[in-house]
Amino acid sequence: MAFLATVMAAEPIADCYKAICENEKIAINPFVLENLERTTTTSCFLCCRNFTLNLAGNRKQKGFQRLTDSDILVLSKCLQNYQTLTGLDLGYNNISDEGAAYLAMLLEAQDTTLRSLDLTFNNIQTHGAELLASSLQGNSSLLSLRLSGNKIGRNGGLDFAGMLRVNMTLQELELGECDLEMHGMIGLSTALKNNTTLRSVDVSRALLFSLLEEWAVHFSKMLPVNSSLVELHLGKMGLTDTGMERLSEGLKLNHRLRYLDLRCNRVSRDGALHLSKVLKGNSPLEVIDLSSNRIEDPGAEYLSEAICCEGSVLRELSVCRNNISTSGLLSLAGALTNSPTLTHIYIWGNHLEEPVCQAFKELLNTGRLTPEQTDVRPYEVDGHVFLAELFHHLRKHLFFTDVNEQNAGSDSPQQ
Ligand SMILES: *[C@@H]1O[C@H](CO)[C@@H](O)[C@H](O)[C@H]1NC(C)=O
Ligand SMILES: *[C@@H]1O[C@H](CO)[C@@H](O)[C@H](O)[C@H]1NC(C)=O
Ligand SMILES: *[C@@H]1O[C@H](CO)[C@@H](O)[C@H](O)[C@H]1NC(C)=O
Ligand SMILES: *[C@@H]1O[C@H](CO)[C@@H](O)[C@H](O)[C@H]1NC(C)=O
Ligand SMILES: *[C@@H]1O[C@H](CO)[C@@H](O)[C@H](O)[C@H]1NC(C)=O
Ligand SMILES: *[C@@H]1O[C@H](CO)[C@@H](O)[C@H](O)[C@H]1NC(C)=O
Repeated sequence: MAFLATVMAAEPIADCYKAICENEKIAINPFVLENLERTTTTSCFLCCRNFTLNLAGNRKQKGFQRLTDSDILVLSKCLQNYQTLTGLDLGYNNISDEGAAYLAMLLEAQDTTLRSLDLTFNNIQTHGAELLASSLQGNSSLLSLRLSGNKIGRNGGLDFAGMLRVNMTLQELELGECDLEMHGMIGLSTALKNNTTLRSVDVSRALLFSLLEEWAVHFSKMLPVNSSLVELHLGKMGLTDTGMERLSEGLKLNHRLRYLDLRCNRVSRDGALHLSKVLKGNSPLEVIDLSSNRIEDPGAEYLSEAICCEGSVLRELSVCRNNISTSGLLSLAGALTNSPTLTHIYIWGNHLEEPVCQAFKELLNTGRLTPEQTDVRPYEVDGHVFLAELFHHLRKHLFFTDVNEQNAGSDSPQQ
């Protein structure tokens, strides 16, 4: 059996794929085959310790067929034999609960080395979520699971919350736009209180109808626990200033969180004031995404003041589309001049009048900001300065990437 496994693994992966297609009487997906063939010829699939297979379906390629459950059946059988595979990107395909079941089997397979699995925007629902969650309760090696954009719903959320209570290894879990409901959110926040290994969680755009924002209270109570959580995505949650106040109570007692994503909420000047008080209190927060809220000039001024306080370690801030005008934006430009830590700022979608354009031109000219660290670029017409948009955004997965690199470093074979 061991000998057979060795022989199987030495066979080019494309041949293995073709053989299993024939066995299962499933048509070869030319896109999958082409990728597997390229893998064999251009990379050291058999000798590298870390290899990611990218079969994401969001590409414009002639004749391209998105992966279906049958493709996943073949792939999961085939990949069990290749222990160099550490990453599998299957985002934006047509995988349903049936495909999720095959992947759960792959995750449960003995000796699996898979570290990251991306299933963003497929068609996995409650049952598939249950199978995936349950497969992670065994000896899975998975560090990162991205399921955003699959409608796993209330029970799917509860399944993952339950899974997190059991000893496991997962470090990143993305459940944004998954139709999570209040119970799932509460379950997840409870699980996070109890010694999980999670470093990054995304629960953006849950379905929350209550005006009381109970979820914010639960997350706030979770934050003071010294958990492993360093990156938290809470976009599109309808978060108001009241919710922000609740959340800030927990943030003030938190010693770990470095990345807080509050995109597309309803935070205004008062919410920004609460957040600025968090920053003034020796918060470890390094990255804050407040894009598409409405903090306006007063909010921007509160934050600017906090950023300059000794103790704030904020490095990156996005306040895009917040109805901020000249005074607020000039105070942020001033904060950049005075803060020793702030390196990245994103401001597009506010009112960029000429004094603001001048100030940002100056910051760029003096090298205080480089073009990679902001989303505006100055240009001049008839002696007047304007700003154009650069498509630069806050990076996601900031701290999880660190983890991957650390792990890759410590696991790599001796040179
Ligand atoms: C985990 O692995 C150990 C040994 O490697 C085995 O004894 C145990 O049954 C496995 N547990 C599960 C849940 O698969
Ligand atoms: C969790 O895992 C560690 C090491 O893998 C083990 O020592 C510990 O007993 C486990 N705890 C539970 C509750 O399974
Ligand atoms: C917390 O984890 C421990 C084991 O690590 C487990 O015994 C306990 O039931 C968990 N508590 C909750 C509330 O999940
Ligand atoms: C979590 O772990 C810490 C030490 O690592 C331990 O003191 C504490 O009791 C654990 N809590 C739970 C709920 O398991
Ligand atoms: C968490 O850790 C910090 C220091 O890192 C400590 O001051 C604080 O008391 C701890 N909190 C809890 C609830 O254990
Ligand atoms: C933008 O802010 C101004 C005040 O600076 C306010 O009058 C206006 O209503 C705001 N616009 C929106 C769309 O909120």
